[in-house]
Amino acid sequence: MEIRVLTLFPDLMDAVVLSSITGRAVNEGLIGYRAVDIRDYAGNRYGKVDDSVYGGGKGMLMMCDPVYDAWQSAVCSFDSESNPITIYMSPKGKVFDQKKAIELSQKENIIFLCGHYEGIDQRVLDVIVDEEISIGDYVLTGGEIAACAVIDATARLVPGVLPGEEAYSDESHMKYALEHPQYTKPALWHGTGVPEVLTSGHHKNIEEWKYLASLYETMIRRPDLFEKMEISQEDLNRLINDYMK
Ligand code: ADE
Repeated sequence: MEIRVLTLFPDLMDAVVLSSITGRAVNEGLIGYRAVDIRDYAGNRYGKVDDSVYGGGKGMLMMCDPVYDAWQSAVCSFDSESNPITIYMSPKGKVFDQKKAIELSQKENIIFLCGHYEGIDQRVLDVIVDEEISIGDYVLTGGEIAACAVIDATARLVPGVLPGEEAYSDESHMKYALEHPQYTKPALWHGTGVPEVLTSGHHKNIEEWKYLASLYETMIRRPDLFEKMEISQEDLNRLINDYMK
């Protein structure tokens, strides 16, 4: 997978994407990444990329040409010739979820467009954008933090990026599941121990506990996600009769 981010704040994007797990994935060549500075395509000496809004209204709007020229340069910069998908980060977009992360993780080339100020001239959006993604029902000052979240959630699904992924996390019925509780040393902390099964050394029972604990967390905290999971009657029975008893 190769990613390009069109932004007025390439340093902000680089600071996040080139750190930690995504940074290692980029260094190891598992993911291609580059931030494209829209200001480099300003077309004037002052680096001006925005102007006032026709019809009045507050703030400034990013102009068509710098965005379009930065996008063209990004389109031409991919190693593979497969058509890129262009995603505009916007609170007007469809809210991002794990299903979308899985879908994006299978794309070859992705361009993220991050707006700032009051947004971007609609005419260039109409020409270059394939879809709009929001990360939630609130308004950020720009698309960069949203793009970082989407890139992080997507990159960790690219094979090889996360070491030792649990096998079941790939199974479709577990893709919405929340993580089971986890514990580390000491075994007794402030008078509280850890679930006995986890120190039993019994592999099969431990896996069974993790699975049921994960179902339980999802059921209690996020019934909306629990409903989307395809859980067999047998597993539901185990959840109720074994885990919750
Ligand atoms: N830009 C501003 N707010 C946003 C949001 N909630 N999601 C994605 N991009 C945004």
